[in-house]
Amino acid sequence: MSNLDLMQLVKEKVRSLKAYHVENVDCEIKLHANENSFPPSPEILKQFEEVFKSTELNRYPDPDCGPLKQTLAKRLNVVPKNLAIGNGSDELIQILLQVFCEPGETVGFPDPTFAMYAIIAQGMGLKSQTHPLDDQWDFKADPFLETMETNQARIVFLSYPNNPTGNCFSASEVQKVIERFPGIVVLDEAYHDFARKSFLSELPKHNNLIILRSLSKIGLAALRVGYAVADPLIIDQIDKIRLPYNSNSLSQKLTDRLLNHFAPVQKQLDVLIQERNKMVQELSKFKSLKVFPSDANFVLFRVEQDSTALFQQLMENDILVRDLGNHPRLQNCLRVTIGTPDENMAFLEKMAHIIK
Ligand SMILES: Cc1ncc(COP(=O)(O)O)c(C=O)c1O
Repeated sequence: MSNLDLMQLVKEKVRSLKAYHVENVDCEIKLHANENSFPPSPEILKQFEEVFKSTELNRYPDPDCGPLKQTLAKRLNVVPKNLAIGNGSDELIQILLQVFCEPGETVGFPDPTFAMYAIIAQGMGLKSQTHPLDDQWDFKADPFLETMETNQARIVFLSYPNNPTGNCFSASEVQKVIERFPGIVVLDEAYHDFARKSFLSELPKHNNLIILRSLSKIGLAALRVGYAVADPLIIDQIDKIRLPYNSNSLSQKLTDRLLNHFAPVQKQLDVLIQERNKMVQELSKFKSLKVFPSDANFVLFRVEQDSTALFQQLMENDILVRDLGNHPRLQNCLRVTIGTPDENMAFLEKMAHIIK
């Protein structure tokens, strides 16, 4: 029998980490994780059935994700050599830090932003250098670059649109960062389908630029598929680090089918964009809320009362949103994902009932 002090065996960097907290409460209406609330359409499910029937589950997946990369390359007007597939874009964030940073080196990003940049960095023994966003959740490139250069950041992440604030930063300022930062610039476009703005066209001009995208926000969160678009030399380095079968056969093939039968997904996205604009309008009618504009599939708002109390009340009414009040810049802020029209209406009705 052994009864070692296991925590003593764990690396200091890991001991001091807190696990990324994902609400897993069983609420009827889940508006907390920026997923697409619409299930796949019957047309797409039919495609999926064929994949289930034809996939050899006893065989390893295609380690190069060949057909999926072909499909993506065509859609994005790049070549497969520009693409790496991740088990979600989270995995690619981790791999990029492994590729570009030695322990103790610095990763930069604005604040507030997607929490995983800092969490992954900390777990790998990297330093995070943040730069505060202004009151409109935007930033100016010059002071951002100065902070990053003073702290010798090796790589910077810009979430575009930014999670959890919802906005796209000023394109001209992002452009300056791409042009002037003397390291790797990652444009995390996880919410691209809702913003329809992108820096992809800059790739041929800037070999230090990496675009990240995700399938999680447009209907396939369960499958964990994200991808990076970058210079082939960067893709080669990612391929050295990633595990050979990081993307499983079903995820590759189902994603490929979805991308080749995109019309029903596009319909859902169009509805979600309309619903987002309506959500901003409707929430803005509550005098006690400060609602922030959104280019994504979620809306950030600040309440006058304690956000945690409102979060709890919504949860008691079977509606799960994200309480961000723990972040010093996001006190009393909640983030609501745009759901189906029925879910959004239910959320707004409960809000009216609770806030009065
Ligand atoms: C900005 C941003 N990047 C990346 C991700 C991770 O997405 P994935 O599900 O592809 O790992 C998220 C998920 O919330 C996100 O908000």
